[in-house]
Amino acid sequence: MKGQIYSILLVILFCFNNCTEVSKPVPANIIPKPNKVVLGEGTFILSKSTTISAVKKLEPIVNYFKNYVSEKFDIEINTSDEADIQFQLDTSLQNDEAYNLTINEDKILIKSKTQKGAFYAIQSLLQLMPYATNKSAIAINCISVNDAPRFSYRGMHLDVARHFFSVDFIKKYLDLMAMLKMNTFHWHLTEDQGWRIEIKQYPKLQEIAAFRNETLIGHYSDQPHKFDGKKYGGFYTQEDIKEIVAYASDRQITVIPEIEMPGHSQAAIAAYPELGCTGNQIEVATKWGVFEDIYCPKEITFTFLENVIDEVVNLFPGKYIHIGGDEAPKTRWKNCTHCQQLIKKEGLKDEHELQSYFITRMEKYINSKGKQIIGWDEILEGGLAPNATVMSWRGTNGAVEAAKEHHDVILTPGSHCYFDHYQSDDENEPLAIGGYLPLEKVYNFEPIPSELNNEESKYVLGAQGNVWTEYITTPEQIEYMILPRAAALSEVVWTKKTQKNYKDFVERLVYFNKYLDEKEVNYANHIYYIKGKLINKNGKLFYELTTTTNNTIFYSLTDENMNIEYKSPIEITNSATINAAVFDENQQKLGRMFTESITIHKAVGANISLNVTPHKSYNAGGKQALINGISGNNKRYGDVEWLGFSGDDVEITIQFEKPISIQKINTRFHNGNGQWIYAPQKIAIQFNDEKSMNFNIENYGELLVNFSQKFDEEKVNSLKITIPNYGKIPEGRQGAGYKAWTFIDEIIIE
Ligand code: ACM
Ligand code: ZN
Repeated sequence: MKGQIYSILLVILFCFNNCTEVSKPVPANIIPKPNKVVLGEGTFILSKSTTISAVKKLEPIVNYFKNYVSEKFDIEINTSDEADIQFQLDTSLQNDEAYNLTINEDKILIKSKTQKGAFYAIQSLLQLMPYATNKSAIAINCISVNDAPRFSYRGMHLDVARHFFSVDFIKKYLDLMAMLKMNTFHWHLTEDQGWRIEIKQYPKLQEIAAFRNETLIGHYSDQPHKFDGKKYGGFYTQEDIKEIVAYASDRQITVIPEIEMPGHSQAAIAAYPELGCTGNQIEVATKWGVFEDIYCPKEITFTFLENVIDEVVNLFPGKYIHIGGDEAPKTRWKNCTHCQQLIKKEGLKDEHELQSYFITRMEKYINSKGKQIIGWDEILEGGLAPNATVMSWRGTNGAVEAAKEHHDVILTPGSHCYFDHYQSDDENEPLAIGGYLPLEKVYNFEPIPSELNNEESKYVLGAQGNVWTEYITTPEQIEYMILPRAAALSEVVWTKKTQKNYKDFVERLVYFNKYLDEKEVNYANHIYYIKGKLINKNGKLFYELTTTTNNTIFYSLTDENMNIEYKSPIEITNSATINAAVFDENQQKLGRMFTESITIHKAVGANISLNVTPHKSYNAGGKQALINGISGNNKRYGDVEWLGFSGDDVEITIQFEKPISIQKINTRFHNGNGQWIYAPQKIAIQFNDEKSMNFNIENYGELLVNFSQKFDEEKVNSLKITIPNYGKIPEGRQGAGYKAWTFIDEIIIE
C-alpha cells in the first residue's frame, strides 16, 4: 500500500514537472519602445509556483501585478523572501521613472528608484507575456531592458463636457494610458455645453449647468442646423472623482482637472446668470463653437471661482489645475460698464490685458493653495501670469514664446496632437470635426520646436494628445480615435529620438493590437493602408505605391481586379484610376482598397513657384501637389494634396515648357471656419505677365468653395494666380481677430 501511494505521488510529481502546459514566449514588441533591449537565451516560466518579493515601498506595485496576473491568467503568485521575481530599489538611477528589468531563466529582477519605475517595468513585462492563453504556465523570453522616459509630461486629454462618459469608461481610458506609460490625464470638466464636476456650494451647477436641452445633429457646417430635441447631460459626483483619482494614482497617473475661465463658461452662466456681463438668463449651449457669454471679472465671479477651486483642490492631489484661458471672445467685455471701468482702474491697455489680469488673479489664488496653473496658449496674450505653464495648441509658437520667457510648456499642437481629427482619407470614416492626422504624422512629431536652444528646450515638459468630443459620442468611438494614435504619441514622449522608427513601430503595433483585442478595445486599424505618390522623372510621370508592413501590394488600372503585383512605380501616360491593396501570403486582402484618380491636365509636369512657403504642418505634398493631377480629399484639408497657408497672401506662378492654350481654370478652397480656415473672397489671374483679371469667389457658404473660370483660347507661357488672404477672422467666430488660414487644392488647367 505504502509503495502504491509512493508511486502515485511520483506520477503526480512527474506530471507537475512535465505535464504543465507552457505558453509560447512572446517576442519583445514593447510599446513605447524601451531605450535598450538585450535579448538573452532561454525562458523564465511563470506558474502557480512562482514567488515574488518586494521592499515595502514597492508593495502596491507588486499587488497591481499579482492582481493582474491572477485575473488574466488564473495564476496565483505568493510572496516569499527568496523569491523568483524580486522588486528592488536602486537609488543610483537618474530618472524617477526609470527601471531595469532583467529576466533570467531562474529569476526576474526589477530595479527602480521609485514606484513609478517599478510600475513601468511591470507594463513592459506584461507586454512580454501572451495577450491570451489557456495554458497553466507562461514562458517569458530572457531579456534585459534598461529604460527611462524622454519627457516627464506624457499626457492624454479627454473632453467629457461635449459628451459625457461613465466612471467605468474613464477607468478603461486610464488602463490604456497606463499600458502606454502615459502619466497625466487632463480631464476637461467644464464647457459651454455642460458642467461635469459636482461643486457642493453651487447646486445649480448640478441641476442646470450639467444638462443641455438638446444637441446639434450632424456637422456644424451642415446648414441649416438641426437638433435632436433630447435633454443630455450628467456629472461626476465628488465620490466618483475620488474613485477615479485613486484609480489613476494606482496606475501612476496624475489627474489634472480643467476648470475653464474666462471663456467656455456658458453652462455655468446659465446656472448663475450674475456671473456674466449682461446678467441675462441664457441656456446651456446646444451646439459647438465659441460663445460670447464669458465670465465678467467682478467680485462675485472671483468669489464663485475661488469657492469652486477650494473644492477642486481638495479632490485632486496633483500639482496642477488647468484654468483653460482659450477662445474667450471679448465682445461682452467691450460693452460692459464694469469691465471698462476695471480696465481704467487697473491701468490696463485693452481687453487682452483684462484677460491677463483675470488669469493672474486666479493664478495667485491657486498658488496660495499650493498649486500651479496650466493654461492654453491664449494666456500669453496681454502678459503671461508669473508662474503659469503654457499648453501650446495653436501650433507651436506659443511654446516657443513661453519657453523663451522661461515658462514650462506642454506641446499639443492641432497639427499633430488633435485626435479628434480624421485619421484616414477613407470617405467612410465616422464623422469627425475635420482635419487629417494620420498615424505616421503623430509618430513623427517632435515636441521640441526647432526655434529653441538647448537651455530653452528644458522648459518643454512633454506633449499630450487632445480628445475633444463634439463628434465623439460613445466610448467605442473614443477608442477608435485614440488608438493607435496614442500609441504613436507614447513613443514621441517616451522613446529616445535615436530609437524611433515608424516601420518598426508598425510591426510592433500588429502585436500590440492583439492585446487591445483581448481588452475589447475598438482601435482603428489603418496599418495595411497604401500611400501613393506621383513622381516626375525626366519628364515622365510615375505613380509610386508604398505600405508600411512587409506585405505585397497588388493593383490594377481602371478595374478593381488588383491582379498585378506591384514591383516598381507605375508609368502614367493618360488619366487613370489606380486601385490597389495589400495582400498576405494566402492572397487574402488586408485592409481596404486604395483608390486614386489621376487627371492629366495641362499643368501636370509644369514648373510651379510660390511667393511664400506653405505652413510647415500643411505642406506634406509640397508645391507640386497643386499641379500633380490629384485632388485633395473632400473632408481632410490636412492631406498631402491640400496646401495650407497661415495668414499669407499667396501668389502661385506656373511656367509651361511650351506655350499652351487655356480654356478653363478650376480650383477649390477649403472653408472650414471652425478651424479658422476661410476661402478667399476674390482672386486675380494673369497670363504672361499681362494685365491681371479679377474674379469674385461665389458659393461662399459651402465647406468647399469651387472656383471655375472659362477663357477664350490663348497662348500662354506662364500663369500667375494671386490669392489674397481672407483677412482677420470676424468677431464672434472661432479665432476672432487672427488672420485666417487659406487652404488650396489642385489647380486644374484645361
Ligand atoms: C482648444 O482646442 N480650444 C484648446
Ligand atoms: Zn463684464
